[in-house]
Amino acid sequence: MSDFSQLVDDRPAEGIFRVHPDVYSDPQVFEFEQRYVFERTWMFLGLESQIAHPHDYLLAWIGRLPVLISHGADGVRRAFLNVCRHKGTLLCRLESGNRKFHVCPYHGWAYDSAGRIADVKDQASGAYSAGFAREDHNLVPLGAFASYKGLMFGSVSAEVPPLAEFLGELRFFLDLAMEQGPQGMEFVPGRVGFTYRGNWKAQLDNSSDAYHLTSTHVSFMEVQRRRADLVSGNQEARQFDWKRRFEQQGGAFTFKNGHNAIWLNQSESSKRPIFSRIDEVRERLGPLKAEWMLRLRNLTVFPSMQIADSTSLLIRTFRPVAVDETEMRYYCLAPIGEAPEVRQWRLRQFEDFFNVSGFATPDDTTMYEDMAVGLRARQIDAVQGYYRGMADCVQGADEMARTAGVTPVSSVQGQFDLQAETWGHALYREWSRLMASGAEAERAAGTAGAR
Ligand code: FES
Ligand SMILES: [Fe+2]
Repeated sequence: MSDFSQLVDDRPAEGIFRVHPDVYSDPQVFEFEQRYVFERTWMFLGLESQIAHPHDYLLAWIGRLPVLISHGADGVRRAFLNVCRHKGTLLCRLESGNRKFHVCPYHGWAYDSAGRIADVKDQASGAYSAGFAREDHNLVPLGAFASYKGLMFGSVSAEVPPLAEFLGELRFFLDLAMEQGPQGMEFVPGRVGFTYRGNWKAQLDNSSDAYHLTSTHVSFMEVQRRRADLVSGNQEARQFDWKRRFEQQGGAFTFKNGHNAIWLNQSESSKRPIFSRIDEVRERLGPLKAEWMLRLRNLTVFPSMQIADSTSLLIRTFRPVAVDETEMRYYCLAPIGEAPEVRQWRLRQFEDFFNVSGFATPDDTTMYEDMAVGLRARQIDAVQGYYRGMADCVQGADEMARTAGVTPVSSVQGQFDLQAETWGHALYREWSRLMASGAEAERAAGTAGAR
């Protein structure tokens, strides 16, 4: 592996954007990106509606660090490292629930729902020193914790911009998901979880990758055709008619701090669960947002949260476990108070495409695992997967962005078969920037291991 600064070859004036295979396959790169990427930026942790009541709690991850988010008796939500101060054991093991106190399974220290030490078991008989009394026994809070439209984010580092600034212009696209319900949004109970044997950036890329649809998901498209022709008996889920995809306009935006969004016009709005309520949406939020909600939209909040809104609405998070192992979590997002029949249909649509047993996910994860095998080849000096659309990509807003009132870093649009890959530039520029600034910060601090 060369220096981090050499791994992303970004020369816009020459029309070049190449990424070195070590970015996806080098264990040393992986170790450093835990510190420089995951521990130095905002990370999505969960929905406020998951911990709506006092003492509700939720577990999450920031890279490899376990996080506990808890709703205190005082109504304040807080986020901590899910690590007991006594010996560093994982404090809480169950993913969510309601607990006034979290009791460590090892030696029984107890913490209240505001993260304060409530009991050091058998403290009176422990002959503790005065030094112990001076220790802070409370859970270690994250460096930063904030919410945007019901989405909770946290950062290990306090040296991050305010959350609204971090999300920047991507907020328009987050609003299109989080404002769908007049009473807010919630996860349909349950989630999908699985691991794949590949790098986390395979998933980071794939959500914006329209180019793979017609080759990776051929069987899905064939099933849609059979359903449309009424050959298939399953008519419960209604996906888009992909035969008509080439008539549609689509595009991609990149934003500051690594985020991106892609969009595609869809004439078959009635196949979306939101369609039944679109008049209410138009009245509440105006025609612009209602119109945008009926477009297919996939967005990525760098580094590991994605929202896909097509015939169902998905939030996906992924967690790097090793350079070639990634844990995925998929949630079905829905308006609070949604009519039961719409909720049921939303779930059928979710299962049909996004579920681990659905038509898309197994195809995609197979590709991620095959990438991990292929990129072991030392003879490959760069991947060429970020070039489509570069010749048509404009700096700043295009006409579509202007109608939305957003100013991306770059915009590109065309017929569906443009299938631009320029969204990747945001991801790898931010990755590169964080890797360089993390290394620089450690060098300045004299921390061992910095490069
Ligand atoms: S490690 Fe938690 S009480 Fe000992
Ligand atoms: Fe896919």
